[in-house]
Amino acid sequence: MNITLKELITSFTKSIDLYNYLLKNHHRRTAIAAFHIGVEMGLSADRLSDLIIAASLHDIGALTISERDSLIQMDVENPFPHSSLGSYMLSSFSPFEKISRIIFYHHWHYDLDNTYVLELGPVPLEAYILHVADRTDILVQPDCSILAQKQQIITKMESYNGTVFHPEVMAAYLTQAHKDSFWLDIDNWEMEKILKLGISRRYEIDLTLDLLEEFALTLSKIIDSRSKFAIAHSFGVSQVAYAIAARMGYSEEECRKIRVAGLLHDLGKIAVATEIIEKKERLSEAERADIRTHAYFTNLILGHISGLEGIVEWASGHHENHDGSGYPLNLVNDSISQEMDIIAYADIFTALSEDRPYRKGMSTDRIIQILQDEFLTKHGEPVYQVILNHLDELGSICKVSVQDGIARFHCYQNLADTQEQLIKERVNR
Ligand SMILES: [Fe+2]
Ligand SMILES: [Fe+2]
Ligand SMILES: [Fe+2]
Repeated sequence: MNITLKELITSFTKSIDLYNYLLKNHHRRTAIAAFHIGVEMGLSADRLSDLIIAASLHDIGALTISERDSLIQMDVENPFPHSSLGSYMLSSFSPFEKISRIIFYHHWHYDLDNTYVLELGPVPLEAYILHVADRTDILVQPDCSILAQKQQIITKMESYNGTVFHPEVMAAYLTQAHKDSFWLDIDNWEMEKILKLGISRRYEIDLTLDLLEEFALTLSKIIDSRSKFAIAHSFGVSQVAYAIAARMGYSEEECRKIRVAGLLHDLGKIAVATEIIEKKERLSEAERADIRTHAYFTNLILGHISGLEGIVEWASGHHENHDGSGYPLNLVNDSISQEMDIIAYADIFTALSEDRPYRKGMSTDRIIQILQDEFLTKHGEPVYQVILNHLDELGSICKVSVQDGIARFHCYQNLADTQEQLIKERVNR
């Protein structure tokens, strides 16, 4: 593939905050502070890059506006939901194994040292660094000169030395924080610069299809986690799309690319407020219009990554209809590729078989009836025929993969709950 892992991570890290004004600057500023502390502590290039990537994504698990608001208070009441969810989202991508762990522990108090769940492993030093960097940025008042606040922030941070914050990290922090440049860098460096400085050569390898699939799975978790009722939707779509493509005679490599498109099809929902995605009541016209933007944003976020063109086109074309009534491009007949139809059918097929709060998942007979009545004219005959010929097989592939995805999510949630419980017991002792 025509792209390095470093390029992919850089573009992902930049785009993830694109539509998120509250976290955008916080992620950037925290990464800069973490970088300076990490350099002061003499971290190796690889450890430093894990720290920088973790810092630039660390609050990715904070989904709602109220949760994001709560994180910008000095004492976060319950940091667990967002740190464990963020960690879960990134856990499928093997180069991010350590990063996922750093994020899990990024609000960890130093005096809780050994209270961790064994499966998750001990608290990495980078997590303690991230915590200091994170809280430093929280203490900065945006409407007043950063240098005028410097001493006050340092004094406040020092009052937590040895309890909340790791003493060795604090020693490095204090050396850095006494320089004006530390604070001015936080205010002025661009994300681009910090990623360029921070990400090591280890990430300068060509992206393989294996890595791309892992990465797409990570992105799909970021999307699916925003809706409790569809926690494995993209995963289900990807497996169904793969199975349809295989039965249509596509090569193994093409099938895998179609599977990636399935994982990415709703990525643009990142640009839509979670409050709208999660809303149970009937959506207003404006809210429906907001949801419709997601197909456009999938393309905007990934469209500039060279080497991904085909996949991005199939993913962002899943709401195009042959009669021209779809979006975002209002494509018609011949300009809609068969791969787009595969993703479109896989999306509807999976959605109809999933349980929703207001209805149970549908039987395959009912699904094929709906596909025939409502979607055949929109997405064409060839893919429909394949689904019809392999109906039961596709039905069970869909059910099994959605259940697998849900089980993986719950397994991670259980770990996080055990961890939360251990800490509560320790604090109350
Ligand atoms: Fe956080
Ligand atoms: Fe944060
Ligand atoms: Fe969609």
